[in-house]
Amino acid sequence: MRRPLVAANWKMHGGPDAAAKFVEVMVARFGDDPSREVVVCPPFTALPAAAMIASGSAIAVGGQNCHWEDKGAFTGEVAASMLVELGLRWVIVGHSERRQYFGETDATAAGRARAAQRAGLSVIYCLGETLEKREAGETLAVLERQSAVLAGLDAGGLAVAYEPVWAIGTGRTATAAQAEEAHAFLRGRIGGLLGTDAAAALRILYGGSVKADNAAELLGQEDVDGALVGGASLDAETFSAIIRCAPGFTARRE
Ligand code: 13P
Repeated sequence: MRRPLVAANWKMHGGPDAAAKFVEVMVARFGDDPSREVVVCPPFTALPAAAMIASGSAIAVGGQNCHWEDKGAFTGEVAASMLVELGLRWVIVGHSERRQYFGETDATAAGRARAAQRAGLSVIYCLGETLEKREAGETLAVLERQSAVLAGLDAGGLAVAYEPVWAIGTGRTATAAQAEEAHAFLRGRIGGLLGTDAAAALRILYGGSVKADNAAELLGQEDVDGALVGGASLDAETFSAIIRCAPGFTARRE
């Protein structure tokens, strides 16, 4: 049984005050419920405040990126160990916006993920096809290529996020069937790379226009083990509603 993982990717939104207030709500609502894993990933400047509020609860705070080297002359970058020092447990790696705007490749994303795991962080590794590739019928080929680097990672500290690029921030969600097809393919593929036991235990999250009104159907799919939520995670009520769609949730305190 895979424990659902629901993560908020705030992207470049929100400062320390907003993140601290948001995490406070998450701690009060979900902080003592072991049936779900909730991860909040605000921008770097908000991480210390968010981590302080989350400390000691089941709510985890994560970064949105880290560098592939442990330290050095890399202006503007942040090392995984620096995130660990703040008390973080997770980091997002390989997001399509990093691939699209910042030259991220499979190789650099894999380097970042390895560095994160070396430092003791768990990784949410993102992949997904563009609209052009989907329309060309190449979705599974893209996923096969992008996932090859997962062979070099430790399955224990890994979750994979399938985020079709055409569904990110567009309001155009993958159908539950499209998501399930991609997730089932990825699980089989990861079974070949990391072993079937590891693949069976690995959480594969869906990301791309997840909202309160489509989360239940997406999260109800057999191979969809959680969500990586962008825009709809900025509001605590909406994000809470999405978390409650993860199967088996029992709220103790509201
Ligand atoms: P949206 O939920 O805003 O589509 O973003 C998805 C995403 O990129 C999460 O990482």
